[in-house]
Amino acid sequence: MIVTGAGHGIGVQIARQAAADGYRVGVLDIDAEAADQIARSLPDAVPLMASSADASAVEAALNAFGTPDAWVNNAGIVRFGPLVDHSEQEWRSVVEVNLTGTFVGGRSVARRLIAEGRKGSIVNIASINGIAPGPNSGAYSPTKAAVIQLTRQMAIEWGPTGIRVNSVAPGIIDDGMSTPVLADPHVRATRSARTPSRRLGTAADIAKAVLWLCSEDAEYVNGHNLVVDGGVVSTVLAGMPRPASIDGIDRG
Ligand SMILES: NC(=O)c1ccc[n+]([C@@H]2O[C@H](COP(=O)([O-])OP(=O)(O)OC[C@H]3O[C@@H](n4cnc5c(N)ncnc54)[C@H](O)[C@@H]3O)[C@@H](O)[C@H]2O)c1
Repeated sequence: MIVTGAGHGIGVQIARQAAADGYRVGVLDIDAEAADQIARSLPDAVPLMASSADASAVEAALNAFGTPDAWVNNAGIVRFGPLVDHSEQEWRSVVEVNLTGTFVGGRSVARRLIAEGRKGSIVNIASINGIAPGPNSGAYSPTKAAVIQLTRQMAIEWGPTGIRVNSVAPGIIDDGMSTPVLADPHVRATRSARTPSRRLGTAADIAKAVLWLCSEDAEYVNGHNLVVDGGVVSTVLAGMPRPASIDGIDRG
């Protein structure tokens, strides 16, 4: 299994869980030092320095590792700020990593699996922001919505060849890019309290979902977006006021 963006955050845990499940793991990251360090901490892992959005670098990584049975498009970035102040450069860099990177990696591995007549599994890491846009996160939410749709398109085109493609949409995860946001104790406590499962998510919650999607147990799951968020994205209407005749109803 190759995991992109596995040098930090959620990707590290996906790589760890994959190694624990017996996979030989490719730890792909643009941060060579981090990829190296994580690969060294795992039993059978290979560091792969590449930008997931650079087709020739991804090809070089695949040449070094060999064609994997599973590929996880996890690398992603966010640039916070109001949309009116978002520069084209910020917009393009987020589109490049989150969307183009997901396409490039998926296409490279699919080409090889198809040429070799092998089955495989691709998991794209989306976000609940792809369902419910988060304010002041620029291109992030639109790219994650596109990742969910790209996943479906990959699934319908590659399903007949034996490649399954699914996405995982993490909620509020106490790791990675959310770390600075959750450093504020009020934000942290409020987000946890407003989550139906009454806790923040962990990288392990996401890793377990990814590994399940790659497993034989999920062999008929294809083109699915698996939301792993403790119920957060379903709470949209819970904050809307309703008349006492509904909320004050005596249900016995
Ligand atoms: N942390 C959360 O709360 C959360 C919630 C929803 C979705 N996600 C998604 O989970 C994924 C992982 O995010 P994270 O929170 O672990 O972030 P993170 O910033 O901790 O890790 C991202 C990793 O990707 C690497 N990376 C960045 N650009 C790259 C590129 N072009 N090529 C290869 N590697 C690159 C970084 O070096 C880093 O190691 C992202 O797709 C993110 O959008 C995270």
